[in-house]
Amino acid sequence: MAREGDPIEIRDARGDDDLRRFAEVDAESFGGNAAANMRWLTAAAPHAPLRLACIEGEVAGGYMLLSFGQFFGGRSVPAQGVTAVAVHPAWRRRGVAGALMRDCVSLAREQGAALAPLHAATVRLYRRWGWEVCSQTLRQIVRTASLSGLFGSGRVRAKPDRAAIESLRRSHLADWDGPLDRPDWFLSAEWDAGDPDTPRFEYGWYEDDRLTGYVRYESDRQAGSWIRLRVQELVVTTLDAMRGLLGFLGGQESQSNEVIFVHSAVLDASPLLWLLPEPHRDIEVQGFLCWMQRVVDIDVAMRSRGWPATAAGRVELEVSDPVTGVERVVLEVEGGSARVTQGGSGQVRCGIGTLSAWYSSALRARDAVRLGLLEGDLSAVSTMDALIAGGRSWMPDFF
Ligand SMILES: CC(C)(COP(=O)(O)OP(=O)(O)OC[C@H]1O[C@@H](n2cnc3c(N)ncnc32)[C@H](O)[C@@H]1OP(=O)(O)O)[C@@H](O)C(=O)NCCC(=O)NCCS
Repeated sequence: MAREGDPIEIRDARGDDDLRRFAEVDAESFGGNAAANMRWLTAAAPHAPLRLACIEGEVAGGYMLLSFGQFFGGRSVPAQGVTAVAVHPAWRRRGVAGALMRDCVSLAREQGAALAPLHAATVRLYRRWGWEVCSQTLRQIVRTASLSGLFGSGRVRAKPDRAAIESLRRSHLADWDGPLDRPDWFLSAEWDAGDPDTPRFEYGWYEDDRLTGYVRYESDRQAGSWIRLRVQELVVTTLDAMRGLLGFLGGQESQSNEVIFVHSAVLDASPLLWLLPEPHRDIEVQGFLCWMQRVVDIDVAMRSRGWPATAAGRVELEVSDPVTGVERVVLEVEGGSARVTQGGSGQVRCGIGTLSAWYSSALRARDAVRLGLLEGDLSAVSTMDALIAGGRSWMPDFF
């Protein structure tokens, strides 16, 4: 066993031995089992770098980066999603996770990403390293029978084609700020490699052979009770697909009491509020993990997102970043695109986390002032908010 104060080396995982060692750290950290972890680590390995923290040759912890886009202002912004952050219990509270997060910011930036979103089991750690909360993801627990009266024109078919699902998502989810623009391999690592003992289902909604909706869920029978459906994903691009797929879930009412839409898989302002006659009696909402966002490259982030065609303005920012230091930039937006130049007077001052939450349409600059997270004169703050006015944030994806 190494001594306290030994240097922490962060490096790429190499080969199956490293995967196995990290699978054990992860299992002990998340209360899972190493064999199950090996399944998803092996599935993700060809696509996603696994970084390890080593002390005296021992694997003390690690994290994985998943490469995807994230929609902002209607465009797909290059991002590296941070996942599987874990430090072995024997190596905790000596800065290993901090070292991993600093590494993650540099690596994501090196790989061309503008953003590094994550789901936080501990906000404190990530906030310290420049992430900020965009939303607390919600579980919506819906009485199955309340869905059974919904019908749409079209029909369901099992296992729709994966590329067609991703293309359906791209055509629809770009309307919000935050959903993932996933590579076609995404579900093979994030869904297929899950626990083989949990029944899992995928259905498409078809109107004249055209895929217009998609639902993906797990089902489990609770001991001595009903089947519980856990919907991980629901993408509906037409009213028929929405009513059709919700009604399809409702068709399980004889054996199922509840359909749970997990981690904000449906909008927090649920469509069911408008579709059901008595939504307040049939929906219960619980908070779960926080979606946190972090800009890792201000220039790429501002240039690659979309901006409303009518937005125009200039803001001089001073942004403090716990990893890269203080940076002054001038942001100019016009005709749907942005330009970032170094310098300016720093009329608006905030941390990189606050800037990230504002960027994600999750926190208005004027509300950040009220929270003591941003300083600046009123007209500069209003200009900043006008630049992304109308964006609606949503993180329907869990990774
Ligand atoms: C969350 C987790 C990754 C943190 O790992 P860690 O290496 O202990 O994290 P750090 O050492 O960087 O920071 C933890 C605390 O130790 C403190 N610390 C850091 N270096 C220290 C040192 N040299 N001496 C004393 N304390 C220190 C930090 O200030 C921090 O304090 P806080 O309680 O105010 O937040 C780890 O607890 C874990 O694996 N948990 C289970 C899995 C999990 O929840 N992962 C996150 C999923 S999103």
